[in-house]
Amino acid sequence: MTEAPEPDERLRTELLELALEAAERAGALLRDGRPADLGVAATKSSPIDVVTEMDIASEKLVTSFLGERRPDDGFLGEEGSDSAGTSGVRWVLDPLDGTVNYLYGLPGWAVSIAAEYHGEAVVGVVFAPLREETFHAVRGEGAFLRGHRLACRAAPPLDQALVGTGFNYVQQRRTRQAALAAQVLPLLRDIRRSGSAAIDLCDVAAGRLDGFYERGLHAWDFAAGDLIAREAGARTGGRPGAPPGNDLMVAGSPGVFDALQPLLDELGAWHD
Ligand code: IPD
Ligand code: CA
Ligand code: CA
Repeated sequence: MTEAPEPDERLRTELLELALEAAERAGALLRDGRPADLGVAATKSSPIDVVTEMDIASEKLVTSFLGERRPDDGFLGEEGSDSAGTSGVRWVLDPLDGTVNYLYGLPGWAVSIAAEYHGEAVVGVVFAPLREETFHAVRGEGAFLRGHRLACRAAPPLDQALVGTGFNYVQQRRTRQAALAAQVLPLLRDIRRSGSAAIDLCDVAAGRLDGFYERGLHAWDFAAGDLIAREAGARTGGRPGAPPGNDLMVAGSPGVFDALQPLLDELGAWHD
């Protein structure tokens, strides 16, 4: 496999500054513009996989803001943006991760924006307005929250690990995920289900979770959080030897990841 080329420092800085500003603007729109009577605009993979008008408005804001400044870049966004671009840069964004929390007025939601350069994430930003937290990472330069460098937690034995997870919107898949959680729970300290995979990965980076796993995520859910977790010293992957993907995403402090990934693989967390 040939290595992806490295973006120079000027490009890395530009991508980070743009990602931070786009996330800030979209987060402000979501925070300040949430209609009191917010309803469901559409459903996607199942009746509980909802989209609001604000998910769509947020994606439009981010893609117009970035597209005006860097017209040759590509986009992959949850609400439909999909273009390759010609510059080598592609923005991978979830304009609102944690839509169900947002719909119910819970604080666990975020704007997640990653910049890939020739297919590899080089910048990741996750802005969670109601937590007043902006996480960011640049590949090779560490992960940060409020100017402080993040380090994942020292790994406890697996039976003392606090592990986040999530449940897919498709009923057959979540039924299987619930059965798997019942198998995994007694082997851990406890499980958390926050409702935002992007925040879960940042919480691994910040040492607030020892690990995280979920089946059924898309690149827009994890592209930014994955880089932030890795830059904080965590390990991430999919099935053993594979990168994180739709079949499985696992993250954790190194010792927790090393125990959790084979366990999940053995228990079949990667299939329905
Ligand atoms: C969802 C959240 C949730 C995860 C789901 C995702 P959305 O994203 O990240 O935590 O469990 O699998 O689809 O729909 O709120 O953008
Ligand atoms: Ca999402
Ligand atoms: Ca979303």
